[in-house]
Amino acid sequence: MTRVTVSVSGSYDVLIGSGLLDSLGARCAAVHAPCKAALVCDSNVAPLYAQRAEQSLAAAGFDSLRFVFPAGEKSKNLETYTALQNFLAENRLSRSDIIVALGGGVTGDLAGFAAATYMRGIDFVQVPTTLLAMVDSSVGGKTAVDLPAGKNLVGAFHQPILVLCDPDTLATLPEEYFRDGCGEVVKYGLMSDAALFDSLAQAPIRSRLEAVIARCVEIKRDVVSVDEFDTGLRRILNLGHTFGHGIEAAANYTVSHGCAVAMGMAIITRAAAKLGCCPDAAVQRLEALLESCGLPTRAPVPAEAIFAAAMGDKKISAGRLHLVVPRDIGRCEILSVAPNEAMDWLKAGGAE
Ligand code: NAD
Ligand code: GLY
Repeated sequence: MTRVTVSVSGSYDVLIGSGLLDSLGARCAAVHAPCKAALVCDSNVAPLYAQRAEQSLAAAGFDSLRFVFPAGEKSKNLETYTALQNFLAENRLSRSDIIVALGGGVTGDLAGFAAATYMRGIDFVQVPTTLLAMVDSSVGGKTAVDLPAGKNLVGAFHQPILVLCDPDTLATLPEEYFRDGCGEVVKYGLMSDAALFDSLAQAPIRSRLEAVIARCVEIKRDVVSVDEFDTGLRRILNLGHTFGHGIEAAANYTVSHGCAVAMGMAIITRAAAKLGCCPDAAVQRLEALLESCGLPTRAPVPAEAIFAAAMGDKKISAGRLHLVVPRDIGRCEILSVAPNEAMDWLKAGGAE
C-alpha cells in the first residue's frame, strides 16, 4: 500500500493498494468515530461494490445507508443533489455523520458537494473506482454539480477526510473509461514528470497501477497544497483541458472527456513546437504515447467551433484564456492570452 498525505486546509491521506476496499470500515474508523455513513454510489457501481463496502463499514461499527442514483453525467445535477439531501435528512444524519462516495468522478463530485452543504458541511470519504477519479477528481476538494448552462457550475471546495483507492476495482471498469483515465495520467507526465512519462512509454499503465496512481496523486498533491482554491498554479492541471473542453462541447459531448483532453494536449504541444517553445521531439513522443494508450491526437471538429466553445468555458477570466503550454516533456508554463491569440495557437496546433 502507498500513502500520500495531502496537507491543505485539512490534512488527509490518500491510500492506494490492492484489496483496500475491504478495509474501508477500519480505515474510516481511524479518522472518524463510528457513526451513520451514507454510502453514495451509481447504478453500475452499487451491484459491484456496495455490499463489500457496507460489510466493511458495519464490521467497524458504522451504520451504513445506501443512496443509489442512475449512472452517468446526466445525473450530476441539482435534482439528484436534492434527492440526496432529502435522503440524508430523512435518515436523520447529523453533523457528526459522514458520506462515503463510492464510484467515479460523477459520484465523488455529487456526494462531495452534498457533504459540503448538508448542515453547512459534514465529513466525507472518497472511494474512487475509475482511473480518472483515482488520479484526479477524488483528490483536491473540488466538488460540483452541472447546470443546463454548463458543467460544474454549482460547487464548493470541500476536502475529503480520507481517499481510499483500490486498483482491483478497475478490473470491472469498461475499457473506454480506463482509456479516459489514461489521458489524465499522460497529462501528469507531460505536465511535470518526464520520468513518469518515460515509464508510461515503457510499460502499460495496467501493469503498474499502484505506482502510477500514487505518482499522479503526489503530483496533484504538490499542486493543490500550493494553490488549494485554484487562483494560480492549480491552473496547470488544465493542461489539454482548455481546448479539450472546447472539443467536447463543439462535438456535442460525443467525444469523451479523456479523448478530448488527449486531443487538447496534442494540439497545444504541436502549437508550442511550431511556435518555437518546445522541441519537435516532444510532439512525436506525446503522439506516440497517446496512440499507444488508444487515445486520439486530432480533433474531429473545426478550429472555429473549438474556439467558440472554449470561449464559453468558465475558466476564462477578464476575457483572457489561460493556456498551459509544454516547454518540453515534464515541463509546462501557464500563459495568459487574448482570444485572438488562442485561435492562433489552435491553428498552429493543427486544428483545421
Ligand atoms: P463516472 O463517474 O461517470 O464513471 C464512468 C462510468 O464508469 C460510469 O458509467 C460508472 O458507473 C462506471 N464505473 C465507475 N467505476 C466502475 C467500476 N469500477 N467498474 C465498472 N463500472 C464503473 O465518470 P468519471 O470518468 O469517473 O468522472 C467524470 C466526472 O469527474 C465528470 O463529471 C467530471 O466533471 C468530474 N471531474 C472532477 C474533477 C474534480 O477535481 N472534482 C476532476 C476531473 C473530473
Ligand atoms: N481537475 C482539476 C483540479 O482539480 O483543479
